[in-house]
Formats: sequence, C-alpha cells, structure tokens
Amino acid sequence: MTTPRGQPRPGTDNLLESLLKENRKFPPPADFKAKAIVKDRSLYDEAERDYQAFWAKQAEQNLHWFKKWDKVLDWQPPFAKWFVGGKTNVSYNCIDRHLASWRRTKAAIVWEGEPGDSVTLTYQDLAREVQKFANVLKSLGVKKGDRVTMYMGMVPELAISMLACARIGAIHSIVFGGFSADSVRDRVNDAQAKLVITQDGAWRRGNVVPLKVAVDDAVKDNKYVDKVVVLRRVGDKTPVKMQEGRDLWWHDLMAKASPVCPAEQMDAEDPLFILYTSGTTGKPKGILHTTGGYLLGVTMSTKWVFDIKDDDYYWCTADIGWVTGHSYIVYGPLSNGATSVMYEGGPDWPDRDRFWAIVEKYRINILYTSPTAIRTMMKWGTEFPARRDLSSLRLLGTVGEPINPEAWMWYHENIGKGRCPIVDTWWQTETGSILISPLPGVTATKPGTGTTGLPGIAAKIVDEKGKEVPPNTGGYLVLTRPWPSMLRTIWGDQQRYVDTYWNRFGKDIYVTGDGARRDEDGYFWITGRVDDVVKVSGHRLSNIEIESALVSHPSVAEAAAVGRSDAVKGEAVAVFVVLKQGQKATPELKQTLRQWVGEKIGSIARPDDVFFTADLPKTRSAKIMRRLLRDLAEGRVLGDTTTLTDPGIVENIKQQYIAEGKEEA
Ligand code: WT7
Repeated sequence: MTTPRGQPRPGTDNLLESLLKENRKFPPPADFKAKAIVKDRSLYDEAERDYQAFWAKQAEQNLHWFKKWDKVLDWQPPFAKWFVGGKTNVSYNCIDRHLASWRRTKAAIVWEGEPGDSVTLTYQDLAREVQKFANVLKSLGVKKGDRVTMYMGMVPELAISMLACARIGAIHSIVFGGFSADSVRDRVNDAQAKLVITQDGAWRRGNVVPLKVAVDDAVKDNKYVDKVVVLRRVGDKTPVKMQEGRDLWWHDLMAKASPVCPAEQMDAEDPLFILYTSGTTGKPKGILHTTGGYLLGVTMSTKWVFDIKDDDYYWCTADIGWVTGHSYIVYGPLSNGATSVMYEGGPDWPDRDRFWAIVEKYRINILYTSPTAIRTMMKWGTEFPARRDLSSLRLLGTVGEPINPEAWMWYHENIGKGRCPIVDTWWQTETGSILISPLPGVTATKPGTGTTGLPGIAAKIVDEKGKEVPPNTGGYLVLTRPWPSMLRTIWGDQQRYVDTYWNRFGKDIYVTGDGARRDEDGYFWITGRVDDVVKVSGHRLSNIEIESALVSHPSVAEAAAVGRSDAVKGEAVAVFVVLKQGQKATPELKQTLRQWVGEKIGSIARPDDVFFTADLPKTRSAKIMRRLLRDLAEGRVLGDTTTLTDPGIVENIKQQYIAEGKEEA
C-alpha cells in the first residue's frame, strides 16, 4: 500500500482541489421528505443502541424465513456468520412471496433491448421462467453447491438464470460480457464450474459481441464443465458451432421444462454467488457472498437509499456482470417487489439520447448510474437530455468511483432539474450492498461526498498506525463492525481473505483499500484507491494484471501500469514498457500492445497511453515507483513524455523525484 491521501495525490489534484473547496449543501426537498420511506434519524439511533438487535428486527420484518435463526451473529474475527441456523431462499424472497399479493401481476423486470425490442416480465412470469430454468439446471445434473458460470449480455435470461441457481442452491459466478476468453477461462477454472450459460452473441452499439465463440475457447480443455447452455439472441448475425453432447440450446431445454420447482430451504450461510474482482495481484479474487445476510443488506439498502415505492419505475444502468447489477438490478429491487428496468445496450445507440429516451419511454422515477456515464453525457452536451421529457424523475444515484462536484452539479441541474435528491453511494464488490450514502429524505447532500454510513454501519478514517484521524485529515477508510452483506471469504483462498482485508489494523478492522477524509459534519469524501487497483470508468482493474498481460507479449521485457487521471473516465490506464533487445519502439508496436492487453483481459483494460522506456524507476526495495510514473503519464515531471528511451533519463527523473521527497515507501 502507498501513503494515504492526506496530500493531494498526483492524478487527482483537480478532483481533490475541487472536493476540498466544495461547501454547497442541499437539504432534502420538503415534498420529497414528506413522502419518503425514511424521514428521520430514528433508524440510525436504533442501530447504534444495539446493531445486532437492529439487524435482527430488519430481517424479521423484511424477509421471509422458512425457519428463524438461533443466533443473529457469530463473529469470530475475521469470520462472520449471520442469522445462524436460519433457513430462507433468495429466489423465494424475490418472487414467491410477491405472488400471494396483488404484485403477482406487477411488472418485475422491464427489459429494453438495444435494437428497440422490449419484454415485460410480471412476477408471475418470472416465477414461471425461473422455475422452468431451475428444472433445466436440475435435469443437467446441477446440484446444491455446484458452480454455474454465466457469460452473457444484458438479457432477461441472465436474471432468470441467477434466480434459478438461487432457487436450487447452485452458486452462480457471472463473468462480465466485456471480458476476454482468457478471463472467462481463469474464472471458470477457479470456480470449477460444472455448467456455463452463454448466448450466441450480445448486441453492442449495433455490433455483435460473439460470446459463444469465447466460451468455446475458454472451456476447450476444461475437465469440470460438462454442459454449455446457449441462448439465441442475435440469430444469424453470428455463426455458432454447437458441440454435440456438450452444447444445448436454451429454448430447446425450456420447451420441455416443468414450471413447478419449489424453492430449496437454504441455510442463511449457504453461498449465493461468487463474483470475481481485481485485487492487487495478477489473479482475480472470487468474492463469496452468502444467502441471508446478503439478501438483508440489498433489501434494506434498496428500500432506504432508493426510497422505492410500488408505483416506481426504477432503472439501474449498470451491467449485471458487476456487483451493482447483482445487487441493484436483480436482488435488491426484486426482494422489495419493485419494478426493475434493464437495458441491453450502449448509451449512444442509435443516438446519444438513448438513456433519456428510455427515461421518457418508461417514465423512469429513480435512476442509478455512474460518474463516468454522467461525465460522458456532459461532454456530449445538454441538447440530448433536452430532447426528452425527464419530468418523471424524482431521485438520482451514482456509484463506482468518486464524482467530481462539477459532474454532480450537471446531473443535478440538467437531469434532476434541480428537483431530485442525488444519492452518491459508496460500496464495493466485497461489501455486497451500499454502506455509505445519503438517505434522500433525511440527509443534506454536498456534491462529491457519499455523506455518512447507513444505519448499522461503522466507518472510520485511520492513519498508518490505525488511529482515528481528526476531521479533514486524509487516511485509510476502514469498517469497524461486521455487517450482514459482507463477503465471507475469497473462494478457495481463505488466507488471502484474511491477509487482504483484515491484517493491517487488527483482525476485526476491515480495510477497504480506499483513501478518504471526513469533514466537520462527519461526511466521508472518498479520494480513490490506495492500493494497486485502478478504476477505469468505474470498472475495477489491477495494475499487476495489466503488467502480466504485457510481459506475456514476445517483444516486452518489463512493464508497469498505472492509472492516470482522465476527465471522462476518472482514470485511464497508462503503461510503461521496456522492450526486449532488438525490438523497435514504433507507433505500430504501441497499437499492437494496446490491442494485446484488450485481448488478454478485455477491452476495458486497453491502455490509453503506451510509453516506451529504457528502464523502470524502482525503489531500493525494487518496487516500481508508481507515483513517479503517474506524474510522468500526466506530464508533470517532463513537459513532454513521448521519449523515455534514452538510458539514464528515467534514472535522472527518479533522482529529482527523490530529492523532492516524493519517493514511495
Ligand atoms: C471501489 C469498489 C460499488 C459497486 C461498484 C464498484 C470505488 C465505489 C464509490 C463512490 C467513490 C467509489 C471505491 C471502491 N467506489 N463507489 N460512491 N465514491 N468511490 O465496485 O468494482 O468493487 O469497486 O469503487 O474505490 O473501493 P467495485
């Protein structure tokens, strides 16, 4: 880990500067507050009196249990078990319990395809499709505890697959459709998945992403995968070869499946899903979430933060391949019996007003998106939102990376028309659900801060030694109390779980990996990762993973990857490459290497900048000096950094850098 962000960090100077000056305050609008689900601070007070009793009460009042738990929390730091002995089922909570009321005929998922087709699934429809697919899974030999990998686009069948797994107790592992075949292979192997679900191809900006071809490559020598289920989505737009005995069409299987499959009674601590995310090594971590605690976390946060009511159309623009989609397109909204809108394609297809066209078409009330999406729309200009009627919106949300106050204000004025509260929600794949966020009917917001921990959540900023720092001092963001939706382990690597999250300040202190400060109102201002993780357009990537991809190229001897600030994407990837003897530093090779990383990991990891250098600056302990490289990539050390290939140049810069006292520990 590098130093906490007490000092302005190279690459986020502008962000940090604007965050530090920010003092505008937006109290909840009176009309919003009057109708809000949470109107006052009593939940916070109640949680502080006894957080376990608080969560137990929420679990009792908001979830269905086949059998009540014997113990709310068994906390043997850093291992937590919530609702020990309780029996429940996530699919039952998201579907069946709504069938007994008028919600049976309510829209559960409203899906908009990229080409303009659409599907509405009521809770009754969802119940039928999920039970049928659960029976398909069973017929293919999938049993409780087996892993199922999904590599799909944003289609309703992805949500159906998830709920079907949850129904029979299979553990799903979704791989984002933008990842490469290599990434799919690693994740399928690590989880030892028995079944893979994919589709012929996915629509992306009018083109087809050939998913089945990637799966063929990923599973070709795999000994665990025995069946691949293929959904037909793009038809004859892409050729698909079905392997006899292994590959089966979704529609063939579903045509024969029975629509009755009762939900399995799951233990509260039975695994629900694995979701891989980047850490500080080259190998992605399989974050494991379990049943009862996760469901409670997403159910309560959806209700409190998004203030979801029965007549709302709620739209989260994330991809289900990331945790945001798991928690806030599928599980959180459906558990609340809400209507969740799901969109398949790109924001600029067929035109740059697509998001706003969707808001207008469905009269969306609650919109949840990312700072990168907002900055992109900002760049495109106000004419696009201005074309559409956005008057249905009443609440806006953001997630995934820090939002700069300028983008917050743009969102507030041009999308929310000054009328809608904005919830800036901080959380992680590991936390399962939102932990730091305003409550829209309670909290006065300020542009650029997620404000405070939700009821029951204990967050702090500490220094190198783990001591809480005074207001307005930078430090590490930590969580000092277990919470129901916390990760339980890293799949297959308990030690890495302990070492990554619980070994720095004590085994009951969770280290988030983020730097932050707290202001005089106690609001948290997140400034970004303090470890070797970059957030490109809110997507999480590991520097070391990118470096490994580069050195696997025949012309590369050594490589360093850093995140540099980017006006739209938040961060962009810049790489420094030392070529092997005899290799020529050419513009074509730069292009080749960018392409290479894209193919190895996925196009989101494709570097924006490639610098060729004769050597890499290292500390005395042989650690790459990433801060120096970040300064270089942002043009702060040399005016023009196009040529670092003279031997000695980097050494010179490094000496200056050390003289200025900026060397990393
Ligand atoms: C990292 C977690 C949260 C679901 C999607 C991302 C950054 C997330 C915020 C926010 C500032 C944020 C942090 C965090 N982050 N939300 N509102 N403000 N930073 O999940 O891929 O696991 O990434 O995203 O750096 O650690 P993830």
